[in-house]
Amino acid sequence: MTQAEANNRSAGISYQQLLAEDVVPPPAVLKLESPLTDVLIQSVPVSRYTTPEFHDLEMQRLWPKVWQMACREEEIPAVGDYLLYEIGQFSIIVVRTASGIKAHHNVCRHRGRRLCDFDGHAASFICPFHGFSWNIDGSLRGVTSSWDFPQIDHDDFDLNSVCCDTWGGWVFINMDAKAEPLAAFLGELPEHFAIWTPEQRYIEAHVGKVIGCNWKACQEAFMEAFHVITTHPQILAGIGDENSQYDAWGNFSRAITPNATPSPHLRWKPSEQELFDSVTMRELDQDPGPRVPDGMTARAMMAAGARAGLQRVVGEDAVISDAEVADSIYYTLFPNFHPWGGFNRINYRFRPFDNRHDKCLMECYYLSPFAGERPPPAKMHFLAEDEPWTNAPELGLLAKVFTQDTFNLPKVQAGLAAAQFDEVVLANYQETKIRHFHHLLSKWLAG
Ligand code: FES
Ligand SMILES: [Fe+2]
Repeated sequence: MTQAEANNRSAGISYQQLLAEDVVPPPAVLKLESPLTDVLIQSVPVSRYTTPEFHDLEMQRLWPKVWQMACREEEIPAVGDYLLYEIGQFSIIVVRTASGIKAHHNVCRHRGRRLCDFDGHAASFICPFHGFSWNIDGSLRGVTSSWDFPQIDHDDFDLNSVCCDTWGGWVFINMDAKAEPLAAFLGELPEHFAIWTPEQRYIEAHVGKVIGCNWKACQEAFMEAFHVITTHPQILAGIGDENSQYDAWGNFSRAITPNATPSPHLRWKPSEQELFDSVTMRELDQDPGPRVPDGMTARAMMAAGARAGLQRVVGEDAVISDAEVADSIYYTLFPNFHPWGGFNRINYRFRPFDNRHDKCLMECYYLSPFAGERPPPAKMHFLAEDEPWTNAPELGLLAKVFTQDTFNLPKVQAGLAAAQFDEVVLANYQETKIRHFHHLLSKWLAG
């Protein structure tokens, strides 16, 4: 048994060792390593993915009680702007009022019609059925033929309210009036992101796509680098897949996958030029790109290029480490929000689609820094289940990578539905984030 095997880690260089060689050293947050003693689950019942009963349990015990990201503040910039956040059978109006962002159940309190059908801007919400109306703060505005409703107390007929709070420019909602405050739920996550100021970024792109699998199976494909060796073999030369570091704290977890370093799975040693070409995803039929000078590493060159581009936006005196521009730093806030750290633009959200256990909506937001006035946020580009990611050119090179990821997923769902075993097994270290997620999910569903 090698020392690495004895430590239950890959034989490759550890992420922390790799950081120690960087030209511009990393911020303290990237040097953190969590204990992993709280992540006990090693296998997950197949039924968590395959049964409407388990979906129903989540719709009863998880979604109506947990904090969840509903939108960005910038999507509702003016008083009266609102959007609808849909989760399972629930629909929530998230609206900006003169006294801040508020959230209400999107249900008319007369005979229950959905109050709003689309995102929009309103001075008040007027039900399209009989015309009962509410002010945007949720207070009752008018009852049609109010003489005919003696039982309605006008001071006690507000829209059913939903807790609402913000962090990092994101708006979170919680349907449980007794929920702990958002800040307590987030724990140390805002401290981790303090240097990256997500509130000072704007939505450069927002793409959502329906995928034919359970929402958990989908997000789990984006919570580890373990799948790179077979799902994305074309990037293996320039990604430290097996060198990734995995952490879990409270309600959030993190993976950091180093780039511009060779995979420990490789049986050949790429040159610095090959590393650079791999990580910049140069196609074989493209002209040669920039040359890595003698004595420079691909990682340093990649970081220097990205840093120079960023500093034009965030300021020349900003200290931007190699790791913050070179590596994939992907957090997961339970249950379904995945903001990326550093200067990578990616943020994901996954949720059931059409209130089904076997369909989900995967969304990718690109959040970018900006100089000067905040640019308007991109609207969501919706891709149906049969549309390829490449129909969203705003995703750039990642569209092809996503296609590889999501190609597996309906086949995962089909395989799980046919499985003759009760549990899927999880890697001890590389699937830490998934184990941590299911550990928390078990606690929530226990009631
Ligand atoms: S259902 Fe809304 S006013 Fe009647
Ligand atoms: Fe992937």
